[in-house]
Amino acid sequence: MKRLIDKLYKQNNLEDKELLELLKGINEEDIVYLKLKALETRKKYYGDKVFLRGLIEFTNYCSRNCSYCGIQAGNKYAKRYRLTLDQILECCETGYILGYRTFVLQGGEDPYYSDEKMVEIIKQIKNKYPDCAITLSLGEKSYESYKKYYEAGADRYLLRHETADKELYEKIHPGASFENRIQCLWNLKEIGYQVGAGFMVGLPNQTYEHYVKDLRFLKELEPHMVGIGPFIPHKDTIFRDEKAGTVEMTTILLALVRLLLPTVLLPSTTALGTIDPIGREKGLEAGANVIMPNLSPVDVRDKYALYDGKICTGDEAAECRMCIENRIRKAGFTLDLSRGDHLMFSGAVN
Ligand code: 5AD
Ligand code: FES
Repeated sequence: MKRLIDKLYKQNNLEDKELLELLKGINEEDIVYLKLKALETRKKYYGDKVFLRGLIEFTNYCSRNCSYCGIQAGNKYAKRYRLTLDQILECCETGYILGYRTFVLQGGEDPYYSDEKMVEIIKQIKNKYPDCAITLSLGEKSYESYKKYYEAGADRYLLRHETADKELYEKIHPGASFENRIQCLWNLKEIGYQVGAGFMVGLPNQTYEHYVKDLRFLKELEPHMVGIGPFIPHKDTIFRDEKAGTVEMTTILLALVRLLLPTVLLPSTTALGTIDPIGREKGLEAGANVIMPNLSPVDVRDKYALYDGKICTGDEAAECRMCIENRIRKAGFTLDLSRGDHLMFSGAVN
């Protein structure tokens, strides 16, 4: 296994069958070595820096019915909310004072926010905070819509592919098309966004073969960001009694992605912090270099419940900001409050 890890470290690639061999055969000692190599790689490009992004969950209305997700359209127990333009701007104001220079606008696929409304939101934020990056995470849209948001000033777009296995994808996304999801990611890249893909770990019926497909897809797409988190069941979904993904598997996959895409921006996710009190620290130690604390108003926090037990739902933005700074420091990393663009967009690498 060490030989495979060394090869991956040197070449930033492995064949599918080697990735599968690694995933199936890796033992405790190899895992320590893999994470060490991932950490070494992140240090080469980003030093000890951890970038922060302020996350604004602005609507939990959603027209889709992803089987795993707590805010799926069919969940009649979900208490729905939408933030107004002024509320969103207030979140940005709070965030700016706390030092954030990236705002991530995330929501369900909510038709209430027409392209015109989104363009207005983006323009207003950019106008008030020209030194900040705007990241959107609004799901699947047409090429034209993505283009309009980009022209209005959006810099980045997060759209996890969720799983790169068509069969599994379509099973857990009733009525949705795998091809369309993948096409959206290519469209976003073509338009010029810094693009984030990513997947969940430990979904019901997910196998090592599926993870190999995820890793291969990421290597082909070459996204600038990759979001990986454990699946966690939600009480109002058909997956309520399923087991959650593990910290171990999630951190192995984070380390593998760091080695496959050495300069990628890799968040240590809230879901990882939910299944383990020091899960986010463990993510950083496996090669992650981004954390996205919550900036949403406290009174809506618990309503953006994608899964059960989500952390930080009772904490003010300032509390999360301080909490995360302490955690990052304690884990031996340093906070970086710049925009934190991908190296390809900050002029450091061609
Ligand atoms: N467990 C873990 N992650 C989830 N997401 C949605 N529902 C769950 C869940 N039950 C993730 C999806 C989505 C991101 C915003 O949250 O990967 O892309
Ligand atoms: Fe929110 Fe720790 S990051 S309370």
